[in-house]
Amino acid sequence: MTEIIVRTDVPYAVTVGGGVSRRLPELIRCADGAGTFALVSDNTVIGLYGDRVTALLEKTGKRVVPYVFPHGEGSKNGSEFLGILDFLARSSLTRDDYVVALGGGVTGDLAGFAASAYMRGIGFIQIPTTLLAAVDSSVGGKTAIDLPSGKNLAGSFYQPSAVICDTDFLDTLPPEVFSDGCAEVIKYGVLGNEKLLRHVTEKGTGFDREYVISECVRMKADIVSADEREHGVRTLLNLGHTLAHAIEKVSG
Ligand SMILES: NC(=O)c1ccc[n+]([C@@H]2O[C@H](COP(=O)([O-])OP(=O)(O)OC[C@H]3O[C@@H](n4cnc5c(N)ncnc54)[C@H](O)[C@@H]3O)[C@@H](O)[C@H]2O)c1
Repeated sequence: MTEIIVRTDVPYAVTVGGGVSRRLPELIRCADGAGTFALVSDNTVIGLYGDRVTALLEKTGKRVVPYVFPHGEGSKNGSEFLGILDFLARSSLTRDDYVVALGGGVTGDLAGFAASAYMRGIGFIQIPTTLLAAVDSSVGGKTAIDLPSGKNLAGSFYQPSAVICDTDFLDTLPPEVFSDGCAEVIKYGVLGNEKLLRHVTEKGTGFDREYVISECVRMKADIVSADEREHGVRTLLNLGHTLAHAIEKVSG
């Protein structure tokens, strides 16, 4: 198990390793004051890990209310965002309660933006289940939805209070989704981690997950700690993204 501290205004821990989700109740002590967890997940991930994570959250003695949306980028939109806000209100969440994002980058971005907006901001915990979310989107506090005119155009900087990355959750990823995440890993290697780049070049997709994810998170944590709101060095993390977003847009 590896723990990395992200030194933002309110520092938080990212815990990475096989089976770490079993320690969820102790890893989310930040939420001791909460009465309810709103578990936000997509309809694929909830079927795979929803029961397990719900049981672990319930071990803390708190109420768990699930919000499930259709998987995929198409759900990162304004109506799903408002749907979550309304769900939080109907479930009587208060400012002491927490949103828990269980899923990939779409879930984290959508749930994080909703957590930042509901009652002007309630607690937020990330449990990434894709490689992309593990190495990139779950850390650093960028949240967003897409607008009809473009990707990630509405959102906020809103840090989670804890990130729990169980590398065993990646076992069920379709190969193409795993490959999406590998592109982000290669990005970190190119940005200045020759040892990491050499490791993934040699091992291919059979790389040491805890080592690779921890290295990427450490690099992201250093950059985010230096430039939380992307006025300078944080733009490095967008390497390749402008071109890739253009390809996404024209290819649908
Ligand atoms: N906030 C940030 O800093 C940041 C950084 C990079 C990317 N992003 C955003 O992340 C999003 C992409 O994230 P993504 O690639 O994780 O997409 P995603 O969340 O849509 O997940 C991809 C697919 O994998 C499925 N899935 C997730 N976990 C699974 C598991 N363990 N087993 C089987 N299936 C699983 C999902 O249901 C989905 O169909 C984009 O919207 C992008 O803008 C945000």
